[in-house]
Amino acid sequence: MPKITIDGKTAEVAKGTTVLEAAQQLGVYVPRYCYHPKLPISGNCRMCLVEVEKSPKLLTACSTEAADGMVVRTDTDKVKTARRDVLEYLLINHPLDCPICDQAGECGLQDYYMEYSRAKSRFPNEDKVRRQKRRALGPHLVLDNERCILCTRCVRFCSEVTKTSELEVMGRGDRSYIDLKEGKALDNGYTLNLADICPVGAWTSRDFRFKQRVWFLKKTPTVCLGCATGCLVEAHHNKNTIYRLSPRPNAETNTWLCDRGRMTYKSVSAGDRLVKGIVKNGLIELEPALREAAARLDEARDAAAVLGSPWLSVEDNSALALLARALKTENYSFDFSAEQGIKDGILINKDPAPNTAGARQVKAAAGGLSFSDFAKRAASGRIKLIVAEARAAAALKDELKAGGAALVVFAVNRGEVPEGAQTTLPYASYFETQGTFVNYQGFSRRTRPSVEPPEGVRPLWAMLTSLASYSGLSLGLNSGDDAIRGIKK
Ligand code: SF4
Ligand code: SF4
Ligand code: FES
Repeated sequence: MPKITIDGKTAEVAKGTTVLEAAQQLGVYVPRYCYHPKLPISGNCRMCLVEVEKSPKLLTACSTEAADGMVVRTDTDKVKTARRDVLEYLLINHPLDCPICDQAGECGLQDYYMEYSRAKSRFPNEDKVRRQKRRALGPHLVLDNERCILCTRCVRFCSEVTKTSELEVMGRGDRSYIDLKEGKALDNGYTLNLADICPVGAWTSRDFRFKQRVWFLKKTPTVCLGCATGCLVEAHHNKNTIYRLSPRPNAETNTWLCDRGRMTYKSVSAGDRLVKGIVKNGLIELEPALREAAARLDEARDAAAVLGSPWLSVEDNSALALLARALKTENYSFDFSAEQGIKDGILINKDPAPNTAGARQVKAAAGGLSFSDFAKRAASGRIKLIVAEARAAAALKDELKAGGAALVVFAVNRGEVPEGAQTTLPYASYFETQGTFVNYQGFSRRTRPSVEPPEGVRPLWAMLTSLASYSGLSLGLNSGDDAIRGIKK
């Protein structure tokens, strides 16, 4: 293993490690624009120049392999001058957009200018090369070519990660610009990653543009529930509103996010967000809705049923299992055959439900019927009422028609509610409450609340506890964790 010394610190690094990566391991930061740990090396921006003993010229740390006995300095006058010169070169044609640029506050040019340059521009504003601005490309992005520093991260992302190769560098010298290849459209399903990896404000998200200054945003680590992959994300929010989701890169699951997953936060404040109950298509206050659902449960007590859901957390599924136990019914099951989508080999899983693995754990602990037996009972009329999560209940469409069972469902958005539901009760979304989800790899992940739920709307386990108590039953739950402990008893 080569032994390398950087700024007086020495380490042995694995063969093939670059100087930039070795510096990182030694806690020495080397500025970079074109380098990205998950993209092939390009070595075009020159921001990472370092001095290497016995080398007549400065070398790019991102593309130079660490060699045994190599001595590197990142803090000499020569390196500092090179960084200043690179920044001056990159800023020569850069527009003075910071006051209106979404990247301001998290921009590589701003940060490095303050850290490594602070030089006054020697270039007259009127001589700057003008390029195309505000070009909408694909469903999610806007490209501002004037802000681009031609690091080619976006080009490499499209050729190496999505392998769709939509982008290329056109032109020569200071007339170069990023463009779509002829006949291509930028709709590969992962396009918003370009806004993340672009070190400047050239790619911006149409969804996020001009909504918030980034320094106002608070960040909550949580999980995307758009499919069984369960990517780790950060929800960025301010004043009880979520503005965007960003990836939380991790070795197990994801560096990136898919575009659909990024938009899942929108359900929290969508126009069809449920803040009241629905009884026979009419909106009613929460407590009367809970009483109405409890009355239905009382009427059908001997023929009631509970259906768990792979869209719900382990806690909420455990609370449903406890309701079945309190009802002393064996009519309890799960449907694990959610419509299978496309597994794309990048991130998107063919299972659209985020917690199939966690739901299976609850089923194993709580018992109950197979889904086909449950469905047969529903179709035969032996079941008179089913308590379920809305998307899971949709699997029983035909059986409900045949057997005539009443349906009490829990939903976050009205769009989830299946036809034929008599009573609908809202619950707090997983951006508003904690919940455990087990992804397809078996990793258990916890959502964390980023925003408050609408007034009176509580986590599903708490809504269920109220429903049970209106029906004279006690689930004994003060938290979601109580529910998990409860099914193990
Ligand atoms: S648009 Fe952004 S990511 Fe693409 S080359 Fe320009 S600066 Fe780099
Ligand atoms: S792949 Fe699945 S979990 Fe990951 S961001 Fe997309 S929808 Fe969310
Ligand atoms: S980061 Fe090394 S040349 Fe760009």
